[in-house]
Amino acid sequence: MSKNAISDSVIRRLPRYYRFLGELEKDGYIRISSRELSEKMGLTASQIRQDFNCFGEFGQQGYGYNVRDLRGEIGKILGLEKLTPMILIGAGNLGKAIAAHIDFSSKGFDLIGAFDANPDLFGMKTGGVSVQSVDELEAFCAEKKPAAAILCVPMEAAEKMADRLIECGVKAFWNFTHFDLRTTHADISVENVHLGDSLTTLSYRLNTFSKEKQN
Ligand code: NAI
Repeated sequence: MSKNAISDSVIRRLPRYYRFLGELEKDGYIRISSRELSEKMGLTASQIRQDFNCFGEFGQQGYGYNVRDLRGEIGKILGLEKLTPMILIGAGNLGKAIAAHIDFSSKGFDLIGAFDANPDLFGMKTGGVSVQSVDELEAFCAEKKPAAAILCVPMEAAEKMADRLIECGVKAFWNFTHFDLRTTHADISVENVHLGDSLTTLSYRLNTFSKEKQN
């Protein structure tokens, strides 16, 4: 089945499958049944079977899934076989933390540059790269051709910066600003990240759980 036919909700679950299967592989698992995997992941076995059926005949009746093969296939779907060059724009508090703590290569990316408008930050090392002036962005992109960018600038600067990066050939944004690039740039790949939304979801869960206990 082609990648395009896989629904967004399945795609959203794939990184978690990939991570779990990697841990299982490290623990020496050769194969695993959908039931065992479902117990470990807190999903139903039928959900797992349905998800994996989207991209091929992986399970075998009575055998389960070959952990390494399945992880390899999910990695292929996620585009992790090659590293996409990526740059960081905005090396402030959040940008620095992301550059320093994300294991880019295991996620299919290679952090090749960091840019900021603040001269005090030029030359500072973060995530293995030195922060450069944003004035050097065009020349850098012409030479190194990054296809993806992490956007960690103030919200007011986001749209203009996105336009500039798209001009430079950037096609994908890991967007931490609260400016929604999806609405203004429909033809590029955007993953908006909002830690606050995740926290609000926790509030919902906590409150729903408390109410259920009261009833
Ligand atoms: P910060 O002020 O520490 O860092 C922003 C950096 O962007 C600064 O170093 C500044 O010099 C630089 N900058 C400003 N304009 C620029 C431009 N035109 N070109 C290049 N660099 C430029 O701010 P912080 O805390 O790191 O937050 C960064 C962004 O992330 C903000 O938009 C903030 O709202 C957002 N944020 C998002 C979160 C989320 O969960 N999505 C969580 C926390 C912050």
